[in-house]
Amino acid sequence: MIGIFDSGLGGLTVTRAIHDRMPHADLIYLADSAYCPYGPRPVEEIRARALACGRWLVDQGARIVVVACNTATAAAIELLRRELPVPVVGMEPGVKPAVAATRRGKVAVMATSGTLASDRFRALVNAYAADVEVYALACPDLVEQVEAGAISDEQTRMLIAGHLAAAPDADVIVLGCTHFPPLTPLISACAGPAVTIIDTGPAVAAQTARVAERIGLPDGSGALRCYTTGDPQAIAPALANVWGEALPLIGVEIPS
Ligand code: SIN
Repeated sequence: MIGIFDSGLGGLTVTRAIHDRMPHADLIYLADSAYCPYGPRPVEEIRARALACGRWLVDQGARIVVVACNTATAAAIELLRRELPVPVVGMEPGVKPAVAATRRGKVAVMATSGTLASDRFRALVNAYAADVEVYALACPDLVEQVEAGAISDEQTRMLIAGHLAAAPDADVIVLGCTHFPPLTPLISACAGPAVTIIDTGPAVAAQTARVAERIGLPDGSGALRCYTTGDPQAIAPALANVWGEALPLIGVEIPS
């Protein structure tokens, strides 16, 4: 079984990519909704939550843990790799593929301020984007829109247009937060058809498949179980919007 967690619903986009790539793998998804969003929280708190979520997934039987959250990856991936007894796969903010794709030498990364301020993000920019202008667009409000299930409404479109106004000449946009792939149609409508949008979910799914092969993870039945540390009833409508259909959601308490 593969365990996947995020601060909330965004990691379902990575879950979808893993399910598409490995349709027979059994998946368990944990939305740490009681603590969502992670973005504005102190790094120490994000680390404590990431460790609690990772340990819980291992206790449920996960043999791989996927950190389907860019903010948690930036804050806690090394800690999780040290502390958990299973392989841990994290997100990449997609700087390298963006640099390969830009023709104008200008890329925008939409993410949380936690991700954009991280050493990991700075190291990627220094390593791959020395000759490219990188617009770091902090979009915490879009995380909240997705958590509210507002993936196609006018207010969300206006917020996106406001963020993209700071990067008018970027020809590549990286979705540096797992909450943002459901916003792709709106982002594309605001940015225009000539702009390439990069979602790193499929690359993370490919890496997860490589790890599964390496450890000999047996096929399951392709089952998906979803848990939340928040109120399942309150979250269910937004989850259906992000996933595309309703999914059973079980509440669970996970102390830090
Ligand atoms: C957040 O919880 O603030 C966003 C999660 C992410 O960065 O993917």
